[in-house]
Amino acid sequence: MDAYASAPTVLPSLLMCDFGHLADEIARLEAAGARALHLDVMDGHFVPNLSYGLPMVETARRLSQLPIETHLMISNPGDYVEKYLDAGADIVTIHVEAAADPRPLLERIRKRGGRAGLAINPPTPIEAIDSALSLCDVVLVMSVSPGFGGQKFESVALEKLAALRAKVPRGVMLEVDGGVNDTTIARCAQAGAQLFVVGSAIFRSDDYTAKIRKLTELADGFGK
Ligand code: DX5
Ligand code: ZN
Repeated sequence: MDAYASAPTVLPSLLMCDFGHLADEIARLEAAGARALHLDVMDGHFVPNLSYGLPMVETARRLSQLPIETHLMISNPGDYVEKYLDAGADIVTIHVEAAADPRPLLERIRKRGGRAGLAINPPTPIEAIDSALSLCDVVLVMSVSPGFGGQKFESVALEKLAALRAKVPRGVMLEVDGGVNDTTIARCAQAGAQLFVVGSAIFRSDDYTAKIRKLTELADGFGK
């Protein structure tokens, strides 16, 4: 967490990358200045899409030293949090919508030495995570309905980021995920986000270095 918590940080989301050349993609991202990776785990049940699971995290861990966040878009995350940490995740982010009470899971993640992330979907009010904030290292505000890359940014995330910035305990990082690009990232930083998950805006560009630099500069302008 501290490795990349110092400044606004763009986390490339490995969902729309070229999986046929995963090692090359990760090497390109590292050379482009990525300081962490965001791996989107989807089970086809909690979200209407199926992506990948533990083997992908183990592979990414083998291919990169960068901090890895696993975004668990899965039902019953309690059955898996330790497994993702053992697979090599540094941050395990679960959805409040997938856990009756996320607090024990967040505690288990931390107890195992991981950073605990809690995600909320666009329709979920921030009050839904009030009781868990003290157990979070990261709060992930979704700016799209989870399941797919390339979706349109939902500006409700901006109000939620601003409201969370006013109430989260010191040290809790605010993260935004979904439709973050050149036209939306500055507003996210202004609203209080410090971690920016970016998928299509990076993987649809032909110059990862220029894109990550541009996005970071746009965020930095407001990320102070
Ligand atoms: C969506 C995922 C996001 C997504 C981001 O369910 O959690 O991480 O891949 O992709 P873009 O930046 O294209 O919205
Ligand atoms: Zn994600």
